[in-house]
Amino acid sequence: MIAMIAQSGGLEVGYDDVGRGDAIVFLHGFPHHRGLWAAQLAALQGQARCIAPDLRGFGETRGAPPYSMDQYADDVVALLDTLHVERAVFCGLSMGGYVAMALWRRHRARIRGLILMDTRAGGDTSDGRTRRNEMIALARARGSVAVADAMISGMVGKRTREKCPEVVDAMHRMLALAPVEGVIGALGALRDRPDSTQTLTTIDVPTLVVVGSDDVLTPPSEGALMHAAIRGSTLEVIADAGHVSNVERPAAVNHVISEFLSRLARTA
Ligand code: MLT
Repeated sequence: MIAMIAQSGGLEVGYDDVGRGDAIVFLHGFPHHRGLWAAQLAALQGQARCIAPDLRGFGETRGAPPYSMDQYADDVVALLDTLHVERAVFCGLSMGGYVAMALWRRHRARIRGLILMDTRAGGDTSDGRTRRNEMIALARARGSVAVADAMISGMVGKRTREKCPEVVDAMHRMLALAPVEGVIGALGALRDRPDSTQTLTTIDVPTLVVVGSDDVLTPPSEGALMHAAIRGSTLEVIADAGHVSNVERPAAVNHVISEFLSRLARTA
C-alpha cells in the first residue's frame, strides 16, 4: 500500500488511497492510526476507492493540540478537497464514528452514506470526563504504553483474547506506539465532544450500524439505539468480536461493508 502525504489546510496528512470508483473514507478510533483498516483496504479496493487518513496527532499526521471532533472532520474534508473527492461513504469506528457524526453536522453534502461502527451517539458522562482527565494524567506521566496497558482488555473481545493472542499483541503495539501528544489531544476532544443523539434523527442518507457482540466499550445496546434513531438504517451485530470488530472479524465486517456498498450502487 502506498502512503502519500497531502498538504491539507497547511497540515501534512498521512493517508492511504487505493482502488477506483466511488469513494469510501475510513476513520480510525482512539488511539489508532490508519493501519487499523488494512484488512478492509485489501479486501474492498476492487469495489471502491478506499481512502484512510491518519487523524490529526496519529500515524503520520502531526498538528499540535487542542483538537476537537469538528477539527478532525474539517481535516478530513480538506484532504478530500486535495484529492478532488466530492462525495463519499464515511465509515468511522468508535472515535471515527464521532468524527463521522461531526461530518454530518458540518459537511453533509459530502456524505453519500454512513457506516457507524462500534461507536455511540451520547457524549461523556461526568464520570466519563473524570476518567478522561485521569487518562490524560497517566499519558503525561507514563506515556502511551501505560494508556495501551489500561485500554487493551476493553479494546478486544473475550474470544479474541482467548483465541487470537497475536491480534491482541498487534493492537497493543498500535496503541503503545501512538504519539503521546496525539493521545492527550484526542482525550481532550473525546471528553469535550458534543452529544450526537439529536444528530441521528437528522440523518437521511443510507446508514449501516455495525457492532461487535462482545464490545464492552460501545456495547450492542448503543448500536441498537443508533439503529432505532436513524430512519431506514441497518444494524449488523458481528458475533464473537469486541470493540475493534473490523480487526477481530475482518471477513465478516468486510462482507457487511461490501453488501452495503453494493446496495448503495444499485440505488444510486
Ligand atoms: C475509541 O476506540 O475510539 C475509543 O474507545 C472511543 C472512546 O473512548 O469513547
